[in-house]
Amino acid sequence: MIMFTLAHFSDPHLALTQKPSLPYLINKRITGYLNLLRHRAHKHQDWALELLLEDMKSRRPDHVALTGDLVNLSLPAEFSRTHAWLREIGTPDKVSVIPGNHDAYVRISEKDGIAKWADYMTGDVRDHAPADTVPLFPYLRIRGEVGILGLSSAVTTAPFMATGKIGKIQLATAEKMLIAMKEQNIFRALLVHHPVIEGQAPKYKRLKDADKLLEMVARTGVDLILHGHNHTDTIGWCTTPTGRAPVIGVPSASSIQREHRPPAQYNLYGIARDQENWKIDMVSRRLKPNTRNFQTVRRMNLVPGSGDLDISIGEQEDDTGDNA
Ligand SMILES: [Fe+2]
Ligand SMILES: [Fe+2]
Repeated sequence: MIMFTLAHFSDPHLALTQKPSLPYLINKRITGYLNLLRHRAHKHQDWALELLLEDMKSRRPDHVALTGDLVNLSLPAEFSRTHAWLREIGTPDKVSVIPGNHDAYVRISEKDGIAKWADYMTGDVRDHAPADTVPLFPYLRIRGEVGILGLSSAVTTAPFMATGKIGKIQLATAEKMLIAMKEQNIFRALLVHHPVIEGQAPKYKRLKDADKLLEMVARTGVDLILHGHNHTDTIGWCTTPTGRAPVIGVPSASSIQREHRPPAQYNLYGIARDQENWKIDMVSRRLKPNTRNFQTVRRMNLVPGSGDLDISIGEQEDDTGDNA
């Protein structure tokens, strides 16, 4: 059985390398900057992110999905620097990125913003487009028998708000893509930054048209939905025409243990066809508290469609190497 391994991580919130100059802070960024100064060191650490990437690369995934919030304040310098960081993770054909609300923190021209990462956000049919072209969402990338559909829920919001919206146009295109993939028997992985299951995000952080997305996948079906934004480890389900499909959120990739939020984590999905059905072998790798090692905290086998699930969790699953 041929297995395709998809790695998923999210919300790295790369640290600022220099203090923003004053003109850049005369807008919503000022509250975000003060928040960063006050809290970031207690929440996010670059060493945790570096260890995560090292551990993830050692697993040699076929493809990597990164579901947004790469930066913090949407400063032009953050976008340029982050493109160089993406290159260290992998070539654009091996890494699929979608933006989060922090990647649209304030309104800036797209060419100074997410267009810098366009080669990581470009669908197969736009592969010929110049690298700095403004990306179009949704995009669709097909790798072997696995399709990766990237949506953007990143919209600029008022201070203290972190809501998202996909919009009718993206949803209509995504619906056609999901139908076409089903006709070709392609595994359908959908990426979106915000959680889609009702109640998983407070009102000020919610995806405003999550109901429309859920109605759409209830019509078309989907095999796996991956998201970030909440910086927590969540497993949920959405309704599909044949049953249900997993909806999985991952903690921030640079998070260190604090209060109720889990430390840095990524998930690996071994995707294989089992006769008529797809099977997913999911492994969650998480930073072990008070160490610089990653460990397996969950193994899960699931069958999209039927919703079958078999989970094992525990320290005994720890098969990590020493990556301190
Ligand atoms: Fe985030
Ligand atoms: Fe977010």
